[in-house]
Amino acid sequence: MTRLTVNNEAVEYLMAPETPLLWALRDASNLTGTKYGCGTGSCGACTVDIDGHAVRSCQTTLASVEGAFVTTIEGLSRDRTHPVQLALIAENVPQCGFCIPGIAMAAAVLLKRNAAPSEEAIAAAITHICRCGIYPRLIEAIQRAGRAMRGEETLPAGPRPGIDPAEAARIVPALDPTGRK
Ligand code: FES
Repeated sequence: MTRLTVNNEAVEYLMAPETPLLWALRDASNLTGTKYGCGTGSCGACTVDIDGHAVRSCQTTLASVEGAFVTTIEGLSRDRTHPVQLALIAENVPQCGFCIPGIAMAAAVLLKRNAAPSEEAIAAAITHICRCGIYPRLIEAIQRAGRAMRGEETLPAGPRPGIDPAEAARIVPALDPTGRK
């Protein structure tokens, strides 16, 4: 059994101690914002905050983090109002979006230590692989989040989480299949 604090809740995992933290978070805690990309520690999609450090959870056993405080993308903010999340949206960074939760966690850890990171500091901290090639916009977004955290800029509100079905779709008369071209 491994006891952790995950997103401010105490959790006892009954899984084998050698289980990767990634599987505990995704399969036992249903925190599926943390992604499985490579499973070898290379891509960074599985990054979470462990005691203030950005860590690849696919390479981290439960036993090695006994007693730790873990924050996942769900714990960063549930309503996407963390400055990193707002800046990523404002700069249109996400494309397919798969790598974004891990990058957001690493960026949040970086900005806690250094709210005005240089491009070099960002490159050193964000060693993630993004197949969409978002890197130029990502650097601007992280520096923008830093400016917001320093009180030098107000970021625009992001879109509301979720979709109200009543606003997104409605039932209409069926199409006549014989009339389709
Ligand atoms: Fe962990 Fe790629 S899934 S680094």
